Amino acid sequence: MKALVTGGAGFIGSNLVDALIARGDEVEVIDDLSTGRRENLEGAIGAGAVLHVEDIATSERIPEIVAACGPDVVFHLAAQMDVRRSVADPAFDASVNVVGTVRMLSAAADASCPRFVFASTGGAIYGEGADRPLPFAEDAEILPIAPYGQSKAAAEGYVAQFTRTGRLEGTSLRFGNVYGPRQDPKGEAGVIAIFLGRALDGQALAVFGSGEQTRDYVFVGDVVSAFLAASESRPGTFNIATGEETSVNRLVEMIDELFDDREVEVVHEDARDGEVESIYLDASLAGSGLGWSPGTTLADGLARTVDSLRAPG
Ligand SMILES: NC(=O)c1ccc[n+]([C@@H]2O[C@H](COP(=O)([O-])OP(=O)(O)OC[C@H]3O[C@@H](n4cnc5c(N)ncnc54)[C@H](O)[C@@H]3O)[C@@H](O)[C@H]2O)c1
Repeated sequence: MKALVTGGAGFIGSNLVDALIARGDEVEVIDDLSTGRRENLEGAIGAGAVLHVEDIATSERIPEIVAACGPDVVFHLAAQMDVRRSVADPAFDASVNVVGTVRMLSAAADASCPRFVFASTGGAIYGEGADRPLPFAEDAEILPIAPYGQSKAAAEGYVAQFTRTGRLEGTSLRFGNVYGPRQDPKGEAGVIAIFLGRALDGQALAVFGSGEQTRDYVFVGDVVSAFLAASESRPGTFNIATGEETSVNRLVEMIDELFDDREVEVVHEDARDGEVESIYLDASLAGSGLGWSPGTTLADGLARTVDSLRAPG
């Protein structure tokens, strides 16, 4: 198979590229390296993957790159995914996440690419779950709080519209909070990467508010297998998550258990505005629609992530 991965130099994208290479696919990547890193692709490029450093939202070369690649599937992960930046500059967020997605869909359809798999979000699209029935299934009302969730919802609409009109077959995967090797411990997103990075450096973990906020944490290896399954299944929209609700306080306890040589220190800070209090997702549709289920427990995933931070590569 020939696969084109946008955002392939990023955390999830580079894990996906490695899996595609491992199964023998030819892989091309489009990434502007705004948050992604060329080093994430070192092994893949050594094995023949091609990196095009281009901006999906503005580069005029996108159609010709996609046509020359002639992919059997486009995995579209390139995105503006900083929630706070989306609040500060919703138009920029929309230019990357909405216009960028429409440009990739058009380029893929024009190149007669039959399949398109889009990285959407379950964590940011449904909105607050505290006073609504949880876990959210795919038919829960879309009530995003940040422009980031709204731009992903709009992009999903285009994936469905291209599919409805027969231009390609598109699937949207709505991830819970993804964690695992290569997530940036110094980045804005990803509480697990931030906590593990700080714990390894002997620094205190900052818990905002009560620490009773809950999320659905899904391991990146399981997200990669969902992408692979989606590329070979009928189109649709699927939650990709564990169906388990974990509080920040519980996460701290589990991280503490991983560091048996020392106590992990915690500092409490004021709650942050605009943060969802509770959310977790029902991923059973992905079981019937994609034959996918999460294979990694949070304890195993945390241990694997710590190992990768201790010995990067
Ligand atoms: N990490 C999560 O918990 C999570 C949850 C739900 C959805 N997602 C989605 O998964 C995808 C990948 O996220 P990630 O966590 O790997 O983040 P990431 O920041 O590591 O990856 C995003 C990649 O896209 C690239 N990129 C950004 N803007 C671009 C542009 N205009 N043109 C070309 N490339 C561009 C970046 O350089 C980076 O390599 C995103 O679409 C994100 O919205 C992530």
